[in-house]
Amino acid sequence: MRFKFVFLTFLVLYLFSGLIRNCEGQHNVEDSNRIVWCTINPEEQRKCLNFAQAVERDWNLFGSAAMRLECKQGFNKEDCMTYLDEEKAHVTSLDAGEVFVAGRYHSLIPIMHEVYSGNQKTYYAVAVIKKGTLADVRTLQDLRGKKACFAGVGTLAGWVIPIYMLMQRGGMDVIDCNNHVKSAIKYFGPSCAVNSLIDKYNPIGDNSDKLCKLCIGKIPGDWCSSADPYFGFEGAFRCLVEAGEIAFLKHTTVEEMTSNQFDFSGVSKSDFELLCQDGSRRPVDEYQSCYWDVVPTHAVVTTSAKSPELRRNYQRFLKKAVDMYATPTVNQTRTQNFPNDSFNIQPLVPYESYNLFESAPRYGLHHNLLLQDVAVALSPLSESQQTYTGYLGNSLNTILGVRHCPVNKMTLCVTSDPELEKCIKMRTALKAQLLKPEMVCHKGHSQINCMQAISNGIADVAVFDAGDVYTAGLKYDLIPFISEVYNLGEPEYYAVAVAKEEDPDTELTYLKGKYTCHTGINTGAGWIVPLAFLISNGWIRSYGCNSIRAAAEYFTKSCVPGALSSEYNTGVPYDNMCDLCHGTSYRYCRRDASEDYFGYTGAFRCLVEGGGQVAFLKHTTVMENTDGKRKEWWARNALTEDYELLCPDGTRALMQEYEKCNLGKVKANAVVARGGNGYNETELNAFINLFIYAQQFYGRRDQDDFSFGMFYSPPPFSDLIFQDAAQQLQVIDSSYRSYGRYLGKDFLRARRVVDCHAGATIVKLSVVWICISTGLSILMI
Ligand SMILES: *[C@@H]1O[C@H](CO)[C@@H](O)[C@H](O)[C@H]1NC(C)=O
Ligand SMILES: *[C@@H]1O[C@H](CO)[C@@H](O)[C@H](O)[C@H]1NC(C)=O
Ligand SMILES: *[C@@H]1O[C@H](CO)[C@@H](O)[C@H](O)[C@H]1NC(C)=O
Repeated sequence: MRFKFVFLTFLVLYLFSGLIRNCEGQHNVEDSNRIVWCTINPEEQRKCLNFAQAVERDWNLFGSAAMRLECKQGFNKEDCMTYLDEEKAHVTSLDAGEVFVAGRYHSLIPIMHEVYSGNQKTYYAVAVIKKGTLADVRTLQDLRGKKACFAGVGTLAGWVIPIYMLMQRGGMDVIDCNNHVKSAIKYFGPSCAVNSLIDKYNPIGDNSDKLCKLCIGKIPGDWCSSADPYFGFEGAFRCLVEAGEIAFLKHTTVEEMTSNQFDFSGVSKSDFELLCQDGSRRPVDEYQSCYWDVVPTHAVVTTSAKSPELRRNYQRFLKKAVDMYATPTVNQTRTQNFPNDSFNIQPLVPYESYNLFESAPRYGLHHNLLLQDVAVALSPLSESQQTYTGYLGNSLNTILGVRHCPVNKMTLCVTSDPELEKCIKMRTALKAQLLKPEMVCHKGHSQINCMQAISNGIADVAVFDAGDVYTAGLKYDLIPFISEVYNLGEPEYYAVAVAKEEDPDTELTYLKGKYTCHTGINTGAGWIVPLAFLISNGWIRSYGCNSIRAAAEYFTKSCVPGALSSEYNTGVPYDNMCDLCHGTSYRYCRRDASEDYFGYTGAFRCLVEGGGQVAFLKHTTVMENTDGKRKEWWARNALTEDYELLCPDGTRALMQEYEKCNLGKVKANAVVARGGNGYNETELNAFINLFIYAQQFYGRRDQDDFSFGMFYSPPPFSDLIFQDAAQQLQVIDSSYRSYGRYLGKDFLRARRVVDCHAGATIVKLSVVWICISTGLSILMI
């Protein structure tokens, strides 16, 4: 009995301790006393490794603060931020401007900041020129075209502040709302701003290399990168001495670089002067009365995923390291406090002291390795202070100010709740990348309603089918400016007629009495092109170009979303035009995503399960929805080979043979904006810019329900806002930005065949106007 009790107690204790161990196991034990510093060049890596050695050697002096230091070399700070984000490294030091990027895009947070002598946690951003030069520069406006040296794109004192100041006072224009590097490219002469060509600052890859022209990296990969000799504040100073006319530096840089023998011989502080905001000059030491801004010192960052406890460990370790290695200590001998361990075979040999704030010439010519050389300590930030916004303070306004866009917002008009939901996701996604102008979503109750909203200024843009581009242009003066591109490489697609393979009786030349499926009334491939084909070939009677009547009398049943809407059908409503439709209650036969049989996928579904015998689609529709690509039950067993194309000559062809068996080409869906009197070029260019950047970030084809993709619609929906078949967006050449030029003659003719009333009122009006004005002129004579 007693034995049993003891045994049980042990069992419980054992299980309990296992539980505890399991809980701890989630927290990587290995990492709790390991710290990996991310470095960006071989010199820094060497200094880091020396640091690590010193720590190993002095392990016991660190006491409970000891951590095993490791060093991981990245290509640049961007690279390091990614490593930290992925927890492949734990800490690195960043310029305040980089702290913004790290915090905004990589969830990194500052945990310590550098302290300069006098307990300073800020420094001055200054503009330095060679003494007596730039006589023609009397105000900041005169800096246009000058050769400038920057510490690197994204740094606060060495990039953001001068760009912001010159946008405010120097006449620098915003060239591209989503790439302010282009504004600097336009403004300055040949210059050196390293990283001006990396992806982050050149997302669509069209930056010129003007801001790399002065850089001197010899190896192609080094040029204009963090490995360039003109990288960093010391690099910018070097650039000023050797090639540039103005450099944007810290107030300490000139002193640092001219007070030693190894950087430049024969160059002294008095050879330089500061350029103040008002255009006047001051000696280098008078920075307190001639600076461009005050900025926070560099910070040590880690990822916010690290527990507060681990962050405290990092802080304790680095604080101890500063205590140990901040000032060059006199030579010590290892006599006291040194235990017998494998590291110390010769404990009495004096060792070289390690200095945390020393860089050149010890490790090469690079300054400011790991930390800034002028720093004297690191100050921990309390947990509540560990945010990039708190750390940046007022500097945040400057950083965001550089990203100012003259156009505030772009309102996209959509026509259904699923589209509105996708629009809101897109807005969030664009905001996450800080893309400008800000996108706003507006839900109109139909495409016509969206056209009115855009025309009235309630919305700005919408994505339309060719048929709607026509109406929008003709009736509301809207212009297409961006088009989708599908698999043809050109912004167009084939309109095709599709029937089931098992139904050989259905053929294009005799569809009388058939059940038909259409994408929507007045859409390109679903209505205008097939009806124009049938009418102009005499297969069906035109009823004086009243295509709705023509179709209603010829086909027995159809689904033509929108056919009963008075907005689209001003004539008599024919109920059989909606008989095949599937939507219930208010959704029935609506010309938007709420009707199941609306659009290309909807029309195909009408053919598959809705009793339709022929569907009018675009050439990609069947392939997009068959062979397991769509999981909904109606599509589950649909195979491409179960469907065939109906050719104009009455024969049939395989789905893949659309190039030789189609009803004609139609222009791709396009984004439209106000033309005519509401046209505003600044706005239009900002909209174009936003779409191009949006597709750069979110135009990938491989999407799922979790991340946003512009050309993806979550099941059961399809083609929300953009067509799922879209592969990219293409800017429409400005000479084609009218509905007539864009859609082309064939389409305009087809549209007139199916609906001559659409344009007729306008024609009649202008005839009347001509009569009146002629009459007036006759009277006046
Ligand atoms: C430290 O020791 C080195 C030789 O080990 C010697 O050259 C140097 O002068 C010493 N420094 C001081 C400050 O004693
Ligand atoms: C170190 O080792 C020596 C002999 O190997 C021994 O006499 C001494 O007590 C040891 N010191 C410590 C602190 O363990
Ligand atoms: C164009 O739009 C911009 C931004 O909305 C506005 O500042 C500017 O005044 C407009 N230009 C004209 C000619 O209306």
